[in-house]
Amino acid sequence: MGLPRRTLAGREVATALIAEAAEIGRVPPTVLRDGPFGTGMVQLWIDTADATELVDVLAPADLPAGWRVVLRAASEDGEPLLVAHADLPGLRELAILDVVVNNTDRKGGHILPGTDGRIYGIDHGICLHTDPKLRTVLWGWTGEPLPDEALDKLRKLRWTLDRDLGQTLSEHLTADEIAALAARTDELVAAGVHPAPSGEWQAIPWPLF
Ligand SMILES: Nc1ncnc2c1ncn2[C@@H]1O[C@H](COP(=O)(O)OP(=O)(O)OP(=O)(O)O)[C@@H](O)[C@H]1O
Ligand SMILES: [Mg+2]
Repeated sequence: MGLPRRTLAGREVATALIAEAAEIGRVPPTVLRDGPFGTGMVQLWIDTADATELVDVLAPADLPAGWRVVLRAASEDGEPLLVAHADLPGLRELAILDVVVNNTDRKGGHILPGTDGRIYGIDHGICLHTDPKLRTVLWGWTGEPLPDEALDKLRKLRWTLDRDLGQTLSEHLTADEIAALAARTDELVAAGVHPAPSGEWQAIPWPLF
């Protein structure tokens, strides 16, 4: 008998496997391990710098050059505030990974700026559902064409999903969930642009961090 599927730990491992196979986004090495309370997930600890270097809530005057604005809001005193994020290749790849894994919880605190200069995504326990649920702070590239390199990586992901990766993922996900992952990848390649919130569900996580 195999491991139980549809577990939070299995989704963490599956997302790490997808990121690694596609080379889209960076997830710390993540494995299943037996422990005193049963099987769970263990992940490499990443030493991090200040997370607000990547995502922040700030006054319009403080917006760093090149940052992408996601949301315009106001403080309790009525002062304008922006939710915004940096425009870096590693962050953009994480946004693309989130679309294919259907991440429903990409908060600022789930984006780690490693002291090694790399950007890591964590907390993927509620990814990979069959129903669309993308909820993220990384909407800053909405409507923009995907970089050619990302499109190539998505095609590679789709290829290996029908082969080795699909086989490995079947230890953690149901056939329906793998089919939905393949369909989301196909849709993203066909659209060729970063998606917009559908308006059918809350597209921004709360709290933001
Ligand atoms: N691999 C990691 N490397 C470094 N820090 C990590 C790692 N995994 C988790 N953390 C830290 O621990 C915090 C909580 O982890 P995680 O988000 O996975 O758990 P959670 O139970 O969902 O908590 P929360 O409700 O705060 O999101 C993260 O925001 C991060 O600061
Ligand atoms: Mg969390």
